[in-house]
Amino acid sequence: MNQVNEFLKESKARVDAVLDRVLPATTHRPGVLHEAMHYSMMAGGKRLRPALCYAAFEDCGGQGDAADWGAAALEMVHTFSLIHDDLPCMDDDDFRRGMPTCHKKFGEAMAVLAGDALSILAFHVLAKAGKAEAVTVLSEALGSDGMLGGQVVDILSEGKPCTLETVEYIHVHKTSALIEASLELGAVLAGADAERRKLYRDYGRAIGLAFQIVDDILDIESSTEELGKDVGSDVENQKATYPALVGLEESKKQARILVDRAVELAGRMGPRASVLADLARFMVERGN
Ligand code: IPE
Ligand code: IPE
Ligand code: MG
Ligand code: MG
Ligand code: MG
Repeated sequence: MNQVNEFLKESKARVDAVLDRVLPATTHRPGVLHEAMHYSMMAGGKRLRPALCYAAFEDCGGQGDAADWGAAALEMVHTFSLIHDDLPCMDDDDFRRGMPTCHKKFGEAMAVLAGDALSILAFHVLAKAGKAEAVTVLSEALGSDGMLGGQVVDILSEGKPCTLETVEYIHVHKTSALIEASLELGAVLAGADAERRKLYRDYGRAIGLAFQIVDDILDIESSTEELGKDVGSDVENQKATYPALVGLEESKKQARILVDRAVELAGRMGPRASVLADLARFMVERGN
């Protein structure tokens, strides 16, 4: 795990330096919107998606700063998704990344607008990498057939009886889609071919689903202090989750099976295979 902690630390430092350059100054009008964007971006966060993007980029022999633009764009769209996910009309949560949620601090209108602004700035920044295919990958992951589709079915399934097929749809779309795209973006920015891209997508699908299953488990077993966000939110909102449907033990078993599959796929990768295998293990071993 030391290797992963080191890699996550380096990725965080690298992407945070880019974010610091591209986020508008809080002194720039409208200051309150820019403050809200900074607040949520810099509140903390594991920076997992940038780390996956950097790992795939390096694994494919990528050179230069292209992955920096991809990593910054990924963290901005991810943060946008969290700001909107926490709104009263969605999961209605009060804490995120160890701080009051964006709408608690700045009000609902500003939280909606800060999320919108981050999602748009993300594509502005991604354009700097100069690869149209990268825009295709990220927009597909986020749209109605990606993360947004997952969020829609997540909301529609609240309080309703649900099948495992539907929970899997929710998790694969709301969470795996962006995780898969993080890896594929790294590969695309390094100029990888279709076969190579497919390998990262398959790995991303497995770790993404495992990641959301573990997120569901932590919502039950962890604490607000440890997670930095509200626990018990899923039960309160009667969410369609893995533990709700198959129980905690079976959920843990499924997450382990998915991670084993991802570790096996990582074995077929290049010079960063061992970091990617450890990143997969981190998905189930993390405490927050
Ligand atoms: C939380 O993602 C939202 C989910 C998709 C489960 P992370 O657990 O990566 O959140 P941060 O970025 O570390 O805050
Ligand atoms: C979040 O799922 C997925 C997205 C933000 C797209 P959750 O609603 O389970 O995430 P947390 O637990 O609030 O971080
Ligand atoms: Mg949610
Ligand atoms: Mg939520
Ligand atoms: Mg959750």
